[in-house]
Formats: sequence, C-alpha cells, structure tokens
Amino acid sequence: MYRAKKSTKWNFNLKNISSFEKHIDKSVPFYKNCHFIFLSLSDFFIQKNSRIIDLGCSSGNYLSKLYDKNKFDISLAFEGYDAVPEMIKFCKKKYNKKKINFFKKDVVNINFKNSSLISSFYTIQFIKQSKRQKLINRIYNGLNKNGAFFLLKKFYQKILKHKICSLKYITNLKLKMVFHQPMF
Ligand SMILES: C[S@@+](CC[C@H](N)C(=O)[O-])C[C@H]1O[C@@H](n2cnc3c(N)ncnc32)[C@H](O)[C@@H]1O
Repeated sequence: MYRAKKSTKWNFNLKNISSFEKHIDKSVPFYKNCHFIFLSLSDFFIQKNSRIIDLGCSSGNYLSKLYDKNKFDISLAFEGYDAVPEMIKFCKKKYNKKKINFFKKDVVNINFKNSSLISSFYTIQFIKQSKRQKLINRIYNGLNKNGAFFLLKKFYQKILKHKICSLKYITNLKLKMVFHQPMF
C-alpha cells in the first residue's frame, strides 16, 4: 500500500498552536472541504456504544466537529491522539467543555478495539514506513463490523509529476476512492 522510499520527518515546531489551523488551511488545498466531506460521511459508520478516534488530531479541529455533530449520543467515546505534548495541552484547554479525551501517544501504540470510526488526516506520512502497514492492520482489526477508517494523505505521484491529495475511506468490506485532487 505504501511505497514511497522515504518517510517525511516531522519537525513542526509551533510557538503558537492557534496559528496551526491557519497554516494548514493555507498549505493543504481543500482542507476544510475534506473535513466537511468526511463529517458528512461519518453518519453512515458511527455506531452506538463505540469509540470515535482521530489519529494525529493536532489542534483537535476535526474531532471537535465530529463531537458537535454527535454530542447528544452519550454512548459514544471521542478520543484524539497526538505525539506532540503542546498539541494535546492546547486541545485539552480549548475543548475542556466537550466530552473529548485527548492523549499524548504515538499512534502506532494504540488499541483500536470497539471503534466504529477512525480517522487519520495528513498524519500517516509522518509514521516510519516500517510501521505503517502494521498500523493499518491494527486499525482494520480494531474496527467494528461496518465501521470505517478515513484516510487523507499527501503523496507525490511520479507518473503525474504533481502532488495528489488522496481522499479515501476504507470500511471492513471495501475500499473506496472518493477523489484525487492535484496539488501544485
Ligand atoms: C499535519 S498534522 C495533522 C492535521 C490534522 N489531522 C487535521 O486534520 O487538522 C500531523 C499531526 O500528526 C502528529 N503526529 C506525527 N507523528 C505522530 C505519531 N507517530 N503519533 C501521533 N501523532 C503524530 C503531529 O504531531 C501533528 O500534529
């Protein structure tokens, strides 16, 4: 599934995390639109009494929107994971009124049992290549039947000689390619 020769090193060092959202919105084309699409699709997969997990949640933007959409279902558990302590601190403070749990943890070490929705937006490229397939397998095995894994990933496609924003969702039953967006 992942064949790029090198993994991208994460060296994002923000003094002010609030500026992260502006930064990513400018640098990733259709950033908000992609969140919107995946928010709409989420309704088809979220199941009662299950976990909703966002990997590499950064400033908690997407997870917070998912929470707002489903906050009346108290059987759901919302969990955001990020490796950068400042991001988690920021999320805990910003969303302290929302029932979302944020954890400082490497995404490769998470137990995904009883999840109906797992998302990973622009984060997989920071995971060591040798660990990516294992992570995807763990996600697949942890997902409930008819749950889904939403993946957004930037990659460089040599044949087309431009970057592509790949928007995919993967369920236990099938993998669907929603669209490819060229990025220049
Ligand atoms: C480009 S940002 C993700 C943006 C976010 N998903 C969104 O849609 O706004 C990548 C995030 O992945 C986190 N990250 C990178 N490697 C990680 C790892 N191994 N475990 C957990 N988080 C990681 C970084 O700290 C960073 O916050």
